Amino acid sequence: MLFIILGLQSAICNPHSEIERGSTMQGLELKGMGENQTVVAQRLRGEGRQDPFESAEFKSENRITLDISYMMDAPGPGTIERKDVETLIPRVVKAHEQLKENQGDIFDGKTAMTGWLNLPEEMSREHLREIKSVTHELAGQVDAFVSLGIGGSYLGVEATFRALTHNYFNQLTREERGGAPEIYFLGQNMDPDYFRDTLDMLKEKRVAVNVISKSGTTTETAVAFRIIRKIMEENWGNTADSMILVTTDRVKGALREMVKEKNYRAFIVPDDVGGRFSVLTDVGLVGLSMANIDIEEFVAGFRTMREITWGNDFWGNPAMVHAACRHAAWHAGKKIEVVASNSASLYPVARWMEQLFPESEGHEGHGMWVSPSLYSEKLHANGQMVQQGERNIMETFLYLKEHDNDVSVPDTGKSSDGLDFLAEKKADMNFVNRMVIGGPAYAHYKGGVPNMTVEIPRRSAFNLGQVYFMMEMSVAISGTLMGHNPFVQPGVEAYKKAMFALIGKPGFESEALGMEKELAEMERTII
Ligand code: PA5
Repeated sequence: MLFIILGLQSAICNPHSEIERGSTMQGLELKGMGENQTVVAQRLRGEGRQDPFESAEFKSENRITLDISYMMDAPGPGTIERKDVETLIPRVVKAHEQLKENQGDIFDGKTAMTGWLNLPEEMSREHLREIKSVTHELAGQVDAFVSLGIGGSYLGVEATFRALTHNYFNQLTREERGGAPEIYFLGQNMDPDYFRDTLDMLKEKRVAVNVISKSGTTTETAVAFRIIRKIMEENWGNTADSMILVTTDRVKGALREMVKEKNYRAFIVPDDVGGRFSVLTDVGLVGLSMANIDIEEFVAGFRTMREITWGNDFWGNPAMVHAACRHAAWHAGKKIEVVASNSASLYPVARWMEQLFPESEGHEGHGMWVSPSLYSEKLHANGQMVQQGERNIMETFLYLKEHDNDVSVPDTGKSSDGLDFLAEKKADMNFVNRMVIGGPAYAHYKGGVPNMTVEIPRRSAFNLGQVYFMMEMSVAISGTLMGHNPFVQPGVEAYKKAMFALIGKPGFESEALGMEKELAEMERTII
């Protein structure tokens, strides 16, 4: 009753209400805004158009740079001086050399986990053609494609897809998506509501999946695959098998057995490439090709950064400098690295780094906590902490120089918000958004947070390939500087085992008994 009275009151008080009720309101038109350039790019990719990524001009316009001007001499505690970085040069050069020569603490069992170093050179045109042919044929048969995987079998493909496509990709028409199916991700968590909501989006659609798991035994991915496979088989019988792609180890593991049994089309996670270093393998390439992303351009970006970071001239090698600066910062007491972008599309790339660095460096009480952020959103949240909190923070910015679209800031004629000057200057959102990094970089530096900026000229597969290779090389060096193997993750394996034990997986009975006993004896404090 109270609600009805309030409703009536608000109708009386609202001068627009009569107009709203009586009008036949038209849908919103984006007058004078032109086409969304991300959609234009998607369409062109759908037509098979490629950027001239082999040309010298393209390469020089699309060169990722690293600006470390704000890394040195920020006010203390924890100041880093140039000499702190220079002292590290011989160790960095040695670590780099060892990696290239397959030496040092780089083995997982008997396998040197450095396959990623040579992928950009070894990736053959035939293999890329094969991926394109399978995915394009399948794309033509389905409405939606689901990539199943977690950790390294998820973050790279998701980050690259989001970085290069429209923020509401699945809500666009197929034509606006450049002919690509809708793209979804499952198996990266165990949340039944998320799972069910995603299934709702797939209802009545023709669906293909790619299940990605190197080990084939990761619980989240395996459970997701079971559920979706059953639904597909219930609907389509044996035809479901042709809608399933499997990306896994070449010879071993549970998924490989299923490939043999069901004759699924299979792709490979190379033995010598760890999950978080695998975005340039079939792990990333299959899903990206499904979304019409130019995988040849992606490889070219990796190849370019490989060339740039292959030499041992320290100051000419951004991966070496990045690794040394982070290591010096860590030594000086910086334990948190905020990785912030001014692009919502690149925020998932910061999430990819959130895995790459901590999973590689977080051993024996070492490592920096990576906090992925989107600026300026986060500046109104933990930005206070960055400016004035404990001085154990450094920042790395993923600064997008040119966004796909220009959105101008209109002149309203009355400057109650004080912003008409922007229209007078003809400044668009891109101009303001650049300062979303420029402003904090300066203010945080002055406040004692050393920071560096990776400048990314624009959203392209070429530029992402460069960023990924640079970061992979950087973490391989910095993990080695910390004195341990950056290519293994026994901590992740420990959680996997504990979870197997808790859910009662056969083969983990003794772990389950041990945990049960320990937990029963533990004094609990529950308020
Ligand atoms: O980087 C890694 O190796 C991990 O994050 C793995 O990618 C992740 O645990 C998933 O493993 P799998 O591909 O075996 O399912």
